Amino acid sequence: MCGIVAVTGFKNALPLLMNGLEKLEYRGYDSAGIAIINSETQNITCNKAEGKLQNLKNLLNKNNIPGTTGIGHTRWATHGKPEVKNAHPHIDSSGEVAVVQNGIIENFQELKNKLEKEGIAFNSDTDTEVIPHLIQRELNTLGKLNLDNNGSTLLVAVRNVINDLEGSYALAVLWAAAPNSLVVARRQAPLIIGLGEGEFMCASDTPAIANFTNIILPMEDEEIGLLTPLGVEIYDSNNERQYRNPISLNISEQIIDKMNFKHYMLKEIYDQPETAKNWLEKYLIKNSKNGQFQINLPFDTSFFESIERIEIIACGTSKHAAMVGSFLLEQFAGIPTNVFYASEFRYSPPPLLPNVLTIGVTQSGETADTIAAINMEITRRSLVEDETFKPNLIAITNRTESSIGRQISNIIDIGAGIEIGVAATKTFYAQLLSFYGLAIQFAQIKGTKSKEEISKLIVELYKLPPLLEDLIEKHNQSAEKLAHDFFNIKDVVFLGRGINYPIALEGALKLKEISYIHAVGYPAGEMKHGPIALLDKKVPVISIASPGEVFDKVISNAQEAKARDSYLIGIAPKCNGTQIFDYLMTMPESNEWISPLLNIIPLQLLSYHIAAHRGLDVDQPRNLAKSVTVE
Ligand code: AGP
Repeated sequence: MCGIVAVTGFKNALPLLMNGLEKLEYRGYDSAGIAIINSETQNITCNKAEGKLQNLKNLLNKNNIPGTTGIGHTRWATHGKPEVKNAHPHIDSSGEVAVVQNGIIENFQELKNKLEKEGIAFNSDTDTEVIPHLIQRELNTLGKLNLDNNGSTLLVAVRNVINDLEGSYALAVLWAAAPNSLVVARRQAPLIIGLGEGEFMCASDTPAIANFTNIILPMEDEEIGLLTPLGVEIYDSNNERQYRNPISLNISEQIIDKMNFKHYMLKEIYDQPETAKNWLEKYLIKNSKNGQFQINLPFDTSFFESIERIEIIACGTSKHAAMVGSFLLEQFAGIPTNVFYASEFRYSPPPLLPNVLTIGVTQSGETADTIAAINMEITRRSLVEDETFKPNLIAITNRTESSIGRQISNIIDIGAGIEIGVAATKTFYAQLLSFYGLAIQFAQIKGTKSKEEISKLIVELYKLPPLLEDLIEKHNQSAEKLAHDFFNIKDVVFLGRGINYPIALEGALKLKEISYIHAVGYPAGEMKHGPIALLDKKVPVISIASPGEVFDKVISNAQEAKARDSYLIGIAPKCNGTQIFDYLMTMPESNEWISPLLNIIPLQLLSYHIAAHRGLDVDQPRNLAKSVTVE
């Protein structure tokens, strides 16, 4: 949700800023802009363009902008339409202060009213624009205190201004009078500092700076930093200087190539056998005594013994993974489990119960609702004196260096590698696997499943990577064929039951977000209570029918849809019952517990091919952003 990148050093700022913005474009692509200070003239040059980054590139037309200190932004609109005037950087009336921001300044209207009364004219509809005006006003008040060290003056000015801001932000600020200084600050929005060779930089996310350094310092909430070509100073909200060890990143994981795939999403679907293999290698170990495999979670799980209930907090696709997880934790491991939308949990949490495990699921680790809900849960539990109410937490994330990674120490790193397509695919897959790991661990500790049953499930997990390779290859073709016939449909209904109900929800979400076709996921048995009214020959029904507990029921529900003239697409094996489907995306016969890990593949491919057939921007669908860092 908006990406920011900034640099100061001895090299030209423009290449790093543009490269950084390319890597951050997945966070928002409504508009983009950069501002660079020329240290000789002490002028700020600002360029902005509506739409994709390519428009900004065209505007710059390969012209260099001299200067070694600059800021850049790629926007996902919150306040104000995606227009040039609302694109960042925002500059104060004197043209001396430039700001890029990611977040929401909740009291901006009040601040804007005050500034307008003082005669300051605004050029945009954004919340951000109050910041450069406030900083300029503060600089005037400070009287440009210390002209031989203007960076420190800017630092003081920004600190005074952020004290008056409400909401969340990550920001980077330039001041023409301090051409070799950059001030950065964060509150509940991600920001990392990179230590390069002859330059220091900061960005919303690590890939933005991966071509320039692999050494980073993540900033904590309420911190402010001064970057100059000579070093970095970080201060907390009490103005105490902070010292911490830098972290080294695995560069190859940060630099992502689309290879020969037309879109990142398709590549990431094809990555999934490898994702599964990596997860299995990481979390399954062979017991040297009995030769059996067991789950090896990266923290002490002995506290699972006292856990009586699980609450899972997540958004979007992560919530769908959590719903499969909830099914496994209840039905396989026997632990009562509830899944909550983070945005709902924040304001209407369930009453506190003792011995609860709270699991936060977020691939980006930065989703504002999830982070805030977890914070709220930690706070309210910490206020209870009774030990049984203390917070027990696990994070399931793809980004251990993210906000959730710093919030929670028991982390399951899903290790899917950076995902660029806005529509989550391989990270969903690795989240699912992580829930299988958790359910197995709980079943072992609680003794709710026999050794044989647990081994059987582990063996099934082991079979996944080659099975997935075949499935992807096969359904890449069948999905392409179906897409040819269905790319113009208006509505689709996805049905599933039991462990595959969340897969129906995820299939519908994938189709909606990248093809803009209305789709709804429903528990197959519920269809007759309302949605069946939607069905006719123009509304195809995609039904997930995996052999097991509810197979016959799902087939009967599909029959009900067929009786209303819907075209029926089955995600099912070729077996007795599945002849009712008009088109069968044939699945291998599998163990029901494992079926979600297979059924999701044709659904991902179908959405992908329908969107690609419609000629849409699959990797950067309209109105969406990969990492939703605002409420
Ligand atoms: C996934 O395809 C979506 N783009 C979206 O629903 C996403 O899953 C959601 O915003 C949560 O993101 P997170 O996993 O990073 O918290």
